[in-house]
Amino acid sequence: MPSRTTSGSPYMQFAKLRAEVKYDLAASGVMSYPLAELPVRLEELEINGTDAYGYTPLRERLAKLNGVPTECVVTAAGTSMANHLALAATVELGDEVLVEHPTYELLVSVLDYLGASVRYFKRRMEDGFRIDLEEVERQITPRTKLIVITNLHNPSGAIADQETLCGLGNIAKHANALVLVDEVYLETLFDQRPRPALHLGEHFLVTSSLTKAYGLSGLRCGWVLAAPELAQRMWHINDLYGVNAAHPAELLSVIALDNLDRVAARAKHLLETNRRTQDAFLASRSDLEYHRPEFGTIIFPKLSRGRVDELYRWLTERYETSVVPGKFFDMPQHFRVGIGGDPEMTREGLNRLGLALDELGNSSRSSY
Ligand SMILES: Cc1ncc(COP(=O)(O)O)c(C=O)c1O
Repeated sequence: MPSRTTSGSPYMQFAKLRAEVKYDLAASGVMSYPLAELPVRLEELEINGTDAYGYTPLRERLAKLNGVPTECVVTAAGTSMANHLALAATVELGDEVLVEHPTYELLVSVLDYLGASVRYFKRRMEDGFRIDLEEVERQITPRTKLIVITNLHNPSGAIADQETLCGLGNIAKHANALVLVDEVYLETLFDQRPRPALHLGEHFLVTSSLTKAYGLSGLRCGWVLAAPELAQRMWHINDLYGVNAAHPAELLSVIALDNLDRVAARAKHLLETNRRTQDAFLASRSDLEYHRPEFGTIIFPKLSRGRVDELYRWLTERYETSVVPGKFFDMPQHFRVGIGGDPEMTREGLNRLGLALDELGNSSRSSY
């Protein structure tokens, strides 16, 4: 009998409760954008709104940003709630869902909570973590209701091109399944961002937010893009959860969207600077194997020698630095490094990561 189980999300508990460090390479978003830099006047804010299903000016701006009709936009508390609504609207108890591996752990925790039966298709580092459509064909079954991917891929940052997404859509269509694409990191392409996958057909659903690329996590400005009937279903499911969003946050989100160019310019510059630092770091290491993503805020190297849990302990205890251990992505020999932080902090964090790796290398050599 299918059942619903949850012990919450081990990854989210790690993300929220991990030791505070000075050099934080565990975060995956661009550093916070200060409220003081947005042209906000107190008179523009209000406590209560009147819209029943999403604040219309916010939905309209998100529709414009994504080139879709307003009825395709469901606003949600971050990509987190957007994913939850998208999954709850498309998956029933016992349904089979095909998910990329590795992936963002929360997607699987929510599927477990909804009582779905999860199968995986592999994305391999040796292959640049690309989506191998033949592997998807091998793993899909007549019972598959939904395929789930992240684009850019969390944890590797790899991008899926339009041809691959179309191929994935065709496989799903033949199987009478839908495709959910979490595009929260695709926002980091800014003016180069391709159109959201909903444009490839109504069997696609897309989730995203202003969290990762813009440093605006606290607004919780997330959204789902879906065919109008599915979107309607999500609004009704949302009535069982948060009912309405905090209206001041909706108003602030509208202001942020009206000024998105300036928020994006700062993030773009920061990521270009940090990517140069990251490249210099990677070039200096012979003890790491990696796929270098072209875009985004994260990389997911593999440690050639030694153990990641030891590296993590030394990093936090001796070097005041943090990364995300790969065990949260079910790949314990890897670790995820975020490059969206303050440039000086990122430079020094990578320097300290290098020192910890040297120490680990020396200790594993001397133990032979
Ligand atoms: C793939 C992915 N989706 C969603 C989220 C959550 O995003 P938000 O802060 O917008 O809820 C994250 C955060 O790490 C993520 O990596």
